[in-house]
Order: sequence, then C-alpha cells, then structure tokens
Amino acid sequence: MEIVIRPTPADVAVTAADIVADHVQRGPAVLGLATGSTPLATYQELIRRHQAGGLSFSGCVSFNLDEYVGLPKGHPESYREVIRKEFTSHVDIPDAKVEGPDGTAADIAAEAKRYEDAIKAAGGVDVQLLGIGTDGHIGFNEPVSSLASRTRIKTLTTQTREDNARFFSSIDEVPIHVLTQGLGTISEAEHLLLLATGEGKAEAIAATVEGPVAAINPASVLQFHPHVTVVIDEAAASKLR
Ligand code: F6R
Repeated sequence: MEIVIRPTPADVAVTAADIVADHVQRGPAVLGLATGSTPLATYQELIRRHQAGGLSFSGCVSFNLDEYVGLPKGHPESYREVIRKEFTSHVDIPDAKVEGPDGTAADIAAEAKRYEDAIKAAGGVDVQLLGIGTDGHIGFNEPVSSLASRTRIKTLTTQTREDNARFFSSIDEVPIHVLTQGLGTISEAEHLLLLATGEGKAEAIAATVEGPVAAINPASVLQFHPHVTVVIDEAAASKLR
C-alpha cells in the first residue's frame, strides 16, 4: 500500500488526476467511479485536462460503485445522475458507457448479478476511485460487511445517513437501502485509489492503514490488495503514527 500525503485537498486532486490520467493514456480504461464530495475536485481536474485538449476518455467505460435504492429514475441525487453531472457529461465518455447499478430495478438481486456480469464482461476495473466514510465504509459496505462480499443490497447506518443528509433537504429523504459493489467486487479492480481529505476522515484512515483487518472497518480489506494508492491531505493523515 502506497500512502501519498499532500498538503491540501487541491493537491490531492492533482495527484489523483495524474494517476487516473496515466491509466486512461495507456489505452481505453475501465474506470471505477465513486460519488460523494471527496472525488469532486479530482473530476474537475480531469475535466480541465480534457477541455485543455490533452486527455481523451473515448473508448473508456465507467462503473459506479453504488446507488441508492428507491430514488426515482432521474432523481438529482441518484448516483447515476450525480456522476453524469459532475464528471462524465463533461468529457468524451459516451453516456451508454457510463454504468451504474440500477436502484429502481424490480428485482434487486437480479440487478446485482447483472452488474457483476457487466463489470466482468468489460474485462474488470482498471482503476477504482474510492472515498471513505467516517465509519470506514467503502462503496456502501458498512461496518461488519463481509470482506468477500459481492454486489448486493445493504442498509445504511444512521451515521452514513446523517453524513449524506447534506445532499437532501432532510435526513428523512436519505434512502435507507443501497445497492453497492461488495468488498470482494471492489478488491478485483487492478488498482485501488483511495482518497480522503479533512480531519473528519483521519480516524478512518488510521484504522484502514494501520489497524487490524476486520469487517468492523470495511476499508481495512485494502491491506490485502496488491496495488493500492492512498492519497490524502495532511489533515486526513493527522492520526497516522
Ligand atoms: C460513494 C461512496 C461512499 C463515499 C463515502 C465518502 O460512491 O461509495 O463510500 O465515498 O461515503 O463520502 P464523501 O466523499 O462525501 O465524504
């Protein structure tokens, strides 16, 4: 596991964009995308490089990590919409190549299987962007998720619903269920790129990098992966030994 500590969130975005761009420039990449606040500056930096003319995503395919269950299609906070709005609609990835689990599917278990099959059919994810929850979740694999889990429905913890309430008008509107790639699914990506900024993530980062591997801290599964880059700012690194 490589840990890169950068002074500020803006520096984290530049380093993360360098890593993603490197994969994209080596050939059409399969990108694993995260939503939430943390990767937004990285997406902006990638968009900037694309618009400056130096970086094309044509031929790339993307897969979202997760999706809320129960939000109507087209809801502005559905992760399909968020990833289009914040990233893919500003670069040259065709919309049909922007994939995400469908949280409106009538048969959620069948949709989870379809999504796993789609990732495999694309040849697997080359670089997977990850944020981390204050409780150590990656994707929406909340504490005590199986370290070998596959894409499936999960229930959000109260902590995560509170953390995400800022995107909705009240916590009551934050869905309770999500469809998320499992920790086993995420672990199959060739390169995992975990980003974190701010002191609020410092404990989760310390537990992930230095704590025991345990289902109570889902992100600790990264310790088993052969190619992980953790890019964090000084505040998120402040509880590392
Ligand atoms: C989002 C996701 C989540 C977030 C995490 C951190 O697709 O999978 O694991 O990465 O909740 O969210 P932020 O970046 O908003 O702190």
